[in-house]
Amino acid sequence: MAAGAGALPTAAIVAAVSVSTVVFSYYLCSYWSTSGARYSTPCVSKKKKKQRGRSGLVDAIGNTPLIRINSLSDATGCEILGKCEFLNPGGSVKDRVAVKIIEEALESGKLTLGGVVTEGSAGSTAISLATVAPAFGCKCHVVIPDDAAIEKSQILEALGATVERVRPVSITHRDHYVNIARRRAVEANELAAKLRKLAKIEDEVLLNRIEGYGSDGQKQDSVLPYYGNGGFFADQFENLANFRAHYEGTGPEIWEQTAACGGGLDAFVAAAGTGGTLAGVSRFLQEKNPNIKCFLIDPPGSGLYNKVTRGVMYTKEEAEGKRLKNPFDTITEGIGINRLTQNFLMAKLDGAFRGTDEEAVEMSRFLLKNDGLFIGSSSAMNCVGAVRVAQSLGPGHTIVTILCDSGMRHLSKFCNAQYLSEHGLTPTSAGLEFLGITWAFWQRLEAWSNIFGH
Ligand SMILES: Cc1ncc(COP(=O)(O)O)c(C=O)c1O
Repeated sequence: MAAGAGALPTAAIVAAVSVSTVVFSYYLCSYWSTSGARYSTPCVSKKKKKQRGRSGLVDAIGNTPLIRINSLSDATGCEILGKCEFLNPGGSVKDRVAVKIIEEALESGKLTLGGVVTEGSAGSTAISLATVAPAFGCKCHVVIPDDAAIEKSQILEALGATVERVRPVSITHRDHYVNIARRRAVEANELAAKLRKLAKIEDEVLLNRIEGYGSDGQKQDSVLPYYGNGGFFADQFENLANFRAHYEGTGPEIWEQTAACGGGLDAFVAAAGTGGTLAGVSRFLQEKNPNIKCFLIDPPGSGLYNKVTRGVMYTKEEAEGKRLKNPFDTITEGIGINRLTQNFLMAKLDGAFRGTDEEAVEMSRFLLKNDGLFIGSSSAMNCVGAVRVAQSLGPGHTIVTILCDSGMRHLSKFCNAQYLSEHGLTPTSAGLEFLGITWAFWQRLEAWSNIFGH
């Protein structure tokens, strides 16, 4: 285009651009300073530890960003930070656990290359094991109750795992899905030993099926396909590799990230399923600084709150003979338990809070509307815990929690309006009044509109 007579001289354009940049930067800085955003940009762990032997997918696990949750921070006067575990390749915090379980099993020789990792789980851990097993040259066999959402089996199968759907029975029954998963590893080892003895593997043998028992106690063919290199039961509840994944990974990352952002750390809070996250992180942080307070947030039906606060695992529902149909009868998934696991026993806690399903649902919608965070049910419960801790410590503290997985994993229940309505859980709050906070959030909105003139 020819420079016509009406074109602005270069100097004028440069001056105009410079002035706009300065003005825009001023507004931006004013906003950030009013919102006290020490953590406005994600705090990414700068120091990536050298992990010998790790590369590819496995190296992409962990070192997740720690972000300031602006709405909750501004509403409480604390810095509330969330560790974005939903950004792991397998979509959840359990990727760390899957890697550690497989690494330790391979190192100890309990699992061999080409072997099968078995797990009884309908949730994130199975998906993470199925995701990472191929990266270690291993396979994955998952046993799940047949009332679990069909998408779960489909995802697992799409990831290359074999899936065995069984009738749901009590944990004390030999055919509870966890017990079957344990048995499948034993069976795979027995078969591998037999085949080693025969020292001759023919193609037809690959299709052989080994004997198992159905939930009716009758002998039947197992659906475990042939795995000639033996098996290993992951056992996420009792296997302390789970604890170590967080003691050696999540905990140190949180410590470094809060130090790097200059804010230090006052408290950590999370719910517990196996207890691995809470135990590994709390123990690491308290060894670094005993003044860091660590808390449990416990969903309905779980006995851990009573255990932490009164030393006994007993819930009001049980005392009144009103035990819920299922001890984990809560909309939140993956958290809450009525037994003490080896992993939970490693936790170092200063106290506990109770959270409700209503609070978790309201929190998830609040964070979606105000922060654009689309998180799953356990993450929402963790954020309820973070606000409870902020309320109990008072303004000026830095509190970290875990954003375990994304709302994408919860489309059929927690993030489904019809399901919520059928269960009387339709969210109604405009702000954080469901946690007793009514004014601070509106102050933040006012500050925003004063600066940007909305
Ligand atoms: C989505 C999700 N969040 C949180 C947890 C609880 O973590 P942990 O088992 O480390 O206590 C689980 C456990 O399975 C989970 O699946």
